[in-house]
Amino acid sequence: MSPDRPVLKPALRPFGESIFTPITRMAIAADALNLGQGFPDFDGPPFVIDAAVEAMRAGHNQYAPSHGVPRLRTAIRDAFASRYGVDYDADAEVTVFSGATEALFSTINALVDAGDEIVILEPFYDSYPACVAMAGGRARYVSLDYPDFALDVAALEAAVTRRTKAILLNTPMNPSGKVFTRDELAAIADIACRHDVLVISDEVYEQLTFGDAEHVPIATLPGMRDRTLTISSTGKTFSMTGWKIGWAIGAPPLSAAVRAAHQFVTFCSATPLQHAMAAALERADDYYPRFRADYAARREALLGVLDAAGFEVAPPDGTYFALADITPFGFDDDRAFCEHMIESVGVAAIPPSWFWADRRGGRTLMRFAFCKRVEVLEEAGRRLAGLRDACDPGSRRDR
Ligand SMILES: Cc1ncc(COP(=O)(O)O)c(C=O)c1O
Repeated sequence: MSPDRPVLKPALRPFGESIFTPITRMAIAADALNLGQGFPDFDGPPFVIDAAVEAMRAGHNQYAPSHGVPRLRTAIRDAFASRYGVDYDADAEVTVFSGATEALFSTINALVDAGDEIVILEPFYDSYPACVAMAGGRARYVSLDYPDFALDVAALEAAVTRRTKAILLNTPMNPSGKVFTRDELAAIADIACRHDVLVISDEVYEQLTFGDAEHVPIATLPGMRDRTLTISSTGKTFSMTGWKIGWAIGAPPLSAAVRAAHQFVTFCSATPLQHAMAAALERADDYYPRFRADYAARREALLGVLDAAGFEVAPPDGTYFALADITPFGFDDDRAFCEHMIESVGVAAIPPSWFWADRRGGRTLMRFAFCKRVEVLEEAGRRLAGLRDACDPGSRRDR
């Protein structure tokens, strides 16, 4: 093919390279501590690893049923019913995917036709707009603003049109750390019911809430069970982000639709890891309290470090991210600040403006991940102690 002929289709061209790639590259080159990408720097529980090894040795090594091994679907159904009090049929209403990312891709590609609209609350997880674009749909954005990210119900109502197929929600929300309140979810549910649209609810951080914040799946609100696809995964909950075992729970017509796409995307997900995650969910009641306490300690450690370094931070109610204001350091461009932080003190984070459609919402913020060992967060604190001096206009080279 001639070198001038564009290979990438137009819908994907605006997305370019993910911001994680250049920042990770820079962090490695500078030997920086990486509080950017959201994966733990520790392993998940040994009993889950043992369960994976046992599953492999027991011969669970061939293709699984496309919609997931029965034991895992049952464990997902049981976990949802016991925590949230809503019952689903494990055969007809639970589907296993290769992580929430594939669940989102398959769901959006199953639902969205050319010209259909998806309402995305921003800041967003960066795969959402790309999935909508790949499906030929159009994203409409409703912006939530730092520091409290309160939902503007009127703006949401105004964003829903005749072409809207679904509202895409993420709670607890990356990168804001917001946990939607029951009242906000009721307002979203009301809009979804009145306009007869679906809700796709990404709840991968469902186990990561702090203080009084309560995670409420929107599917549990009146009228929502049959119009919601609840997406979640085991990556964050069991600190195994590389295993990519996720799921979608939804009424039979919705589940049938997502299965129709999924069968042609990955067909099925890694069989032994599905067995291991079934074991994880079956035995998780003993595991969750420790998991949450450890994350509460990591959150405290990061907030202390950022405060001591001179950041103004909106303490997150959920997820393992915190957003900090960079203006006290004399910067109003998140990427420039991030690069300066990597080069001058050896700490990397993620410039979050990439998670807003027009980038303005996040330009004066920085996203720090605290899914790291406390000693790593403390070392980040020692390094960040020098940041104020490194940002002093006299000592900083112009950018
Ligand atoms: C909001 C959100 N959704 C989905 C995912 C992806 O989940 P998985 O690793 O299960 O594909 C992430 C990962 O960072 C996320 O932050």
